[in-house]
Amino acid sequence: MDSTRPSPIHRDDSALPEVFIYGGGKVGRGLARASRDAGLQVTLRPARDGLPAEPIEADLVILAVRDRDIGPCAEALRDRRLVGHRDAAVVHCAGALGPEALAAVRGRRVAVAQMHPMISFASPAFAPFLERGHLHIDGDPAAVRAARSLGVRLGMAPRTVTGLDRVAYHAAAGLVANGAAALAAAGVDLLERAGVERKTAAEMLGPLLRTVADNVEVLGVPDALTGPVRRGDAAGVARHLETLRRLAPHLVPFYVAAAATQLPLARALGEAPPDAFDAIQQVLDGT
Ligand SMILES: NC(=O)c1ccc[n+]([C@@H]2O[C@H](COP(=O)([O-])OP(=O)(O)OC[C@H]3O[C@@H](n4cnc5c(N)ncnc54)[C@H](OP(=O)(O)O)[C@@H]3O)[C@@H](O)[C@H]2O)c1
Repeated sequence: MDSTRPSPIHRDDSALPEVFIYGGGKVGRGLARASRDAGLQVTLRPARDGLPAEPIEADLVILAVRDRDIGPCAEALRDRRLVGHRDAAVVHCAGALGPEALAAVRGRRVAVAQMHPMISFASPAFAPFLERGHLHIDGDPAAVRAARSLGVRLGMAPRTVTGLDRVAYHAAAGLVANGAAALAAAGVDLLERAGVERKTAAEMLGPLLRTVADNVEVLGVPDALTGPVRRGDAAGVARHLETLRRLAPHLVPFYVAAAATQLPLARALGEAPPDAFDAIQQVLDGT
């Protein structure tokens, strides 16, 4: 190959923002790893080391600390004059908080914003795949620009939803991410009782969840639904419940709540006659 040929993807690296991440937890390390992989210059400082003594030389300062620490952290940045000596954006990653959480540090040269990745970061040692992940950004125009440019660089989808109810938004993200992890724990438990080794059970369910994620992203809902409820198979649902009562009675309420949530989706899809769904409702009512 001709090594003098320019790369087909030309990136103007001189325009890349310098990033400072405060907080070396799950999100801090995940964002640091992805940003470095994307060619950005990143400084990661664990919060347990405290804020630096010298002013922070960065264009984008990301506070990846726990929600309750964001306000005090902004106050400390202001009081110790760690930002404000140059133009910079300061953002936090909390889903339920807006840019006002950083009001203490906002100033003539400091723009602030929320920058929330709708991604599940479960371990500082394992960086999740960020591509196409939603990044909710809201705040001062300069901070929104800086966060958007990071998001684009990471292959994410930066969005600003005007008038967003942040607590409801965060509850939705938490319900799906943590509800799915809890469902997976229930699935591992049940697979073990069915005779599968615990480690194998997790290896089975991860790819299953990935296909659900793909179906949700590509097909949307209710089309992502599969299984006996969609098919209007009341006998199949009854068989599941009989087995659960015998093997894992503590999972019966979980199964019933999940099936009841599926019923209106299955009715909307209409792949069985309405009385088949009524029969499922009767099975669930009889538990
Ligand atoms: N996790 C997610 O999936 C997720 C997704 C989107 C947004 N967020 C948001 O991102 C922000 C950071 O969340 P996170 O999940 O990264 O939190 P985290 O893992 O708990 O880390 C946050 C901070 O907690 C500190 N910490 C961790 N373990 C500690 C311990 N045993 N004792 C004392 N301090 C400890 C870390 O200190 P060091 O810096 O010293 O390590 C870090 O600064 C939050 O605003 C959260 O709402 C999280």
